[in-house]
Amino acid sequence: MRRIFSGVQPTGNLHLGNYLGAIRNWVHLQRDYEDCLFCVVDLHAITVWQEPAALRASTREVAAAMIAAGIDAEKSVIFNQSQVPAHAELAWIFNCVARMGWLSRMTQFKEKAGKNKENASVGLFAYPNLMAADILAYKGTHVPVGDDQKQHLELARDIAQKFNNDFGVDFFPVVEPLIFGAATRVMSLRDGTKKMSKSDPSDQSRITLTDDADAIARKVRKAKTDPDPLPTSKDGLEGRPEAANLMGIYAALAGQDLEQVIRDHGGHQFSRFKQDLADLMVDRLQPITAEMRRLTADTAYIDGVLRRGAEKARALSAPIMAEVQDIVGFLRP
Ligand code: TYM
Repeated sequence: MRRIFSGVQPTGNLHLGNYLGAIRNWVHLQRDYEDCLFCVVDLHAITVWQEPAALRASTREVAAAMIAAGIDAEKSVIFNQSQVPAHAELAWIFNCVARMGWLSRMTQFKEKAGKNKENASVGLFAYPNLMAADILAYKGTHVPVGDDQKQHLELARDIAQKFNNDFGVDFFPVVEPLIFGAATRVMSLRDGTKKMSKSDPSDQSRITLTDDADAIARKVRKAKTDPDPLPTSKDGLEGRPEAANLMGIYAALAGQDLEQVIRDHGGHQFSRFKQDLADLMVDRLQPITAEMRRLTADTAYIDGVLRRGAEKARALSAPIMAEVQDIVGFLRP
């Protein structure tokens, strides 16, 4: 059986990286895979402080963004993580399977906790165990994500294998990451060596799905570049992270490969290319933004989608969790 699972955190506005690295790929995959679950991971969000009202708003907005981007809420299961107890329950079991050493090597924890590890929440440290639980509570087999989640998915594989070995079962599948498209790692518009991220203090560093056409044009115009014209071959992108990033974004939005973008735009000045890129971005993102605004305002509809999604997700995870309880040795009187 093939089953897709993926998730996104409701921690502020979604950006171009979330869209091109993940959500847009989900839209394509739901055509080929019968069984898809897309989760707004609110339990993950609270590993760092979230204002409750902002968390609620963001959870609805992320669900709206998924639907606006083209996820079919009837065909795929859209839900928020906290409404399905299996996630937290299996995460606890995985806390007892995963080793401290494994988690200590996670680069995302090191980046997020920074110098002040002592003050990071325990949840932030155990975050990848919850992520493994998200997928495996449904025996998910394929996980479409951006490049930054690769290490977490390797850990999910290790956890599944150790669980199977420890208990002498062939129960959890080995999870396959699906990392594809021309923009698996979208970089900051202010620094082509840094990932585009929600937590960057500069709003200029990212395009968000709530930006209007003016904001998009302004941010693209101000994006960092170098003084040379765009390269005419792929080798010419070597050592030019900003050019590589902007051309990669163009390719992803246009549905072209990088070679095509280099053929069409190589030799142009950045000023001209930025105008083309801004036009393309507005063309591709504005319909999604408009639909997302409309859906976000319809709270009753979004809440209904999430409620029905959670019901389906609970029904899918319940028999798997019952088996997990038997395997671990928990009595179910
Ligand atoms: P999150 O919320 O940080 O990001 C959601 C998705 O967007 C991708 N992404 C990017 N892709 C390309 N370029 C970027 N700059 C960029 N920034 C983010 C991420 O790779 C991700 O696919 N831990 C996950 C959420 C999660 C999850 C899961 C994912 C929780 N449980 C189970 C898959 C399976 C996260 O924080 O994603």
